[in-house]
Amino acid sequence: MEKLSELQKLRLDFKPVLPSILRSGFSSIRPKAGRATSSIADSDKLKGIFEHNFGKPVITFVKGKNPSLNKKPLRVGVVLSGGQAAGGHNVIAGLFDGLKKANKKNKLIGFLGGPSGIIDGKMMEITDKIIDAYRNTGGFDIIQSGRTKIETPEQFEKSKNSMIANKIDALVMVGGDDSNTNGALLAEYFSKEKAPVQVIGVPKTIDGDLKNDMVETSFGFDTATKLYAELVGNICRDVNSARKYWHFVRLMGRSASHITLEVAFQTQPNMALIGEEVLDRKMTLSQIVDSIAGVIARRAEAKKNFGVVLVPEGLIEFIPEFKALIKSLNDIMAKEEAQLSGMDSVRAKKDFIYTKLDAGMAALMKSLPEGIESQLILDRDPHGNVMVSQIETEKLLVEMAHKKLSEMKKDGAFNGKFAAITHFFGYEGRCGFPTNFDANYCYALGYNAVLLIGNGLTGYMSSVRGLTKAPSLWTAGGVPLTMMMNIERRKGEDKPVIQKALVELEGRPFKAWASMREKLAEEDGYLFPGPIQYYGPDAIVNATTKTLQYEKGGKK
Ligand code: FBP
Repeated sequence: MEKLSELQKLRLDFKPVLPSILRSGFSSIRPKAGRATSSIADSDKLKGIFEHNFGKPVITFVKGKNPSLNKKPLRVGVVLSGGQAAGGHNVIAGLFDGLKKANKKNKLIGFLGGPSGIIDGKMMEITDKIIDAYRNTGGFDIIQSGRTKIETPEQFEKSKNSMIANKIDALVMVGGDDSNTNGALLAEYFSKEKAPVQVIGVPKTIDGDLKNDMVETSFGFDTATKLYAELVGNICRDVNSARKYWHFVRLMGRSASHITLEVAFQTQPNMALIGEEVLDRKMTLSQIVDSIAGVIARRAEAKKNFGVVLVPEGLIEFIPEFKALIKSLNDIMAKEEAQLSGMDSVRAKKDFIYTKLDAGMAALMKSLPEGIESQLILDRDPHGNVMVSQIETEKLLVEMAHKKLSEMKKDGAFNGKFAAITHFFGYEGRCGFPTNFDANYCYALGYNAVLLIGNGLTGYMSSVRGLTKAPSLWTAGGVPLTMMMNIERRKGEDKPVIQKALVELEGRPFKAWASMREKLAEEDGYLFPGPIQYYGPDAIVNATTKTLQYEKGGKK
C-alpha cells in the first residue's frame, strides 16, 4: 500500500517564498507604529468594551535594529477554528519555523479540535517530525478544527486557566470573522485579568468575507475558487459539447457571494446570481425565477437549449421575503413546539403551520416545491432553527423555472427545451493542496505572527499585504482587531463583531461582472481554467484571484 501520492511527496518539499522583509534575523526587523486607530463604527461603545486594546496603531515591519525583541523562550499555542480552508497547515509551519528561528527552545502547542481544545486543555506539541509531514498540504487534520465559541464567563475563565496551567505565552487564533472576534475578546479578557497571554489572529475562510482596507483576503479563498472554477469550467465545456442541458451549480459560501463572483470571472458562465444584488434590489423569489426563465427563453430562440447558472449558497437569506418567512417559521416552531411535537405526520404539521402564517407568507410557502416546503419544516438545527444552508436552492430554482417555462410555453413565449442538472460544490473545495499563493500567504502569516508575538503585541491580526505583487515584495505587520469591528445585533443583543465583508455593488469586482453578464447570457464566452497548477509558468502557478486583481486596480 502506498503511503503518499506523488504530489504529496513533491509538495512536502516545496519551499514557500517569504516576503523579503521577513527574511532577516528578527533583531534586524523593527515594528513601525502608525497612528492610533479607531473602529469601523460605534467607537465609543467599543472603547468601553475593549478598554485595554482599543485604538492601538497599525504595525508595519521594516528593516532596523530591534533591541526590545523578546528573546526568552516562548510557548505559543495555536488553534484552528471553523471550516477547513487550504493553507492552515502552512500557517502552523510558518509559526513553527519562525519560533525555532527566534529561539531553538521555543515551543509550539496545537490545541485540538478547535476552541473547545482551549477550554478543555486538549493539546499536543508540534514537533519537527509532525510538521514536516503536513507542509504545503490541504486540510486541518494536524490538530483538527471546531466551531465552539468561547462565549460564557465560565468559558473565558476556563480559557485563561488553561493558558496559565499550560504556561502559554501567546495564542494564535486561526479563523474567520466570528473566531477573530472571539480572539479580540480573549485578548481583552487576558489583559483585564492581567494574565500574561498575548492573542494574535490569522484571517481564514474560503468564503472570502473576512477582508477590509487592511486585510486583502482570507486564506483558502484562492484555492477553493480555483478548485470550483476547474469543475465549473469542465461543466461549461460539457454543455457546449452536449448542447442539451442546463446546469445549475450551487457554490459554497455561507453568506457572502464572493466565491460565486470569483468563479464567474474564471469561467464566464451564462448566469451568476449575486445574493447582495438580490437584497439591494429587494427581489422576490419569483422575480429571480423570471430572470432565469427569461435567459433560458432567449437562448432557446437562438437554438441554445443549454447553459450554466451559478447560485451562491447564501442566496436564500438575501431574498427579503424568504428571510421573513424563515423568521416566522422559527418563531412559530419555538412557540408551538409542544403542539407540533405531538403531531406524527408531516401533513398535520404543515396544515397547522399554515394556520399560523400570515397570508403573504403562506402564499410564498405554497409556491415552493413540496420537498423544499417539507425541508423548511423538518430540517432544524440544534437550536430549532431552519437550516438555511442545507436548502437545495439550485433544485428550488430548477423546479420553479420548469413551472414558469411551461406557463410561458402555453403563451408562446418559450419554444425550447429545458432539461436541467443540479450540483452542489462545497466540501470538495476546502481541503485541496493549497495553491502556491495560499501556501506562500499562509506561511508568511504564521511566520509574521511570531514577530508580532516577539514584539509583545496582543489583540492584533497578522497582516501580509500587497498580495497582487510577487511574494518577495509583500509587506508584513499587524492590524488591531478592534479596527475591524462594529456593534451588531446578535440573538437580540448588541455585540461587538468584526464586520463581515459582503460583495459591494459599487466595488470594482461586481461592476466588472455587471458589465459583462448581458453578453455572456446570450453569447457563449466560457473559459476553461483547468486544474490548479503547482509547477510551471508564473502566469498559471502564481496568478491571484481576479477579485483581488480588480480590487487592487490591476485589472480593468
Ligand atoms: P468558515 O467561515 O468557518 O471558514 O466556514 C466556511 C464554510 O465552508 C461555509 O462556506 C459553509 O457554509 C460552512 O463552512 C459549512 O460548515 P460545516 O463545515 O460546519 O458544515
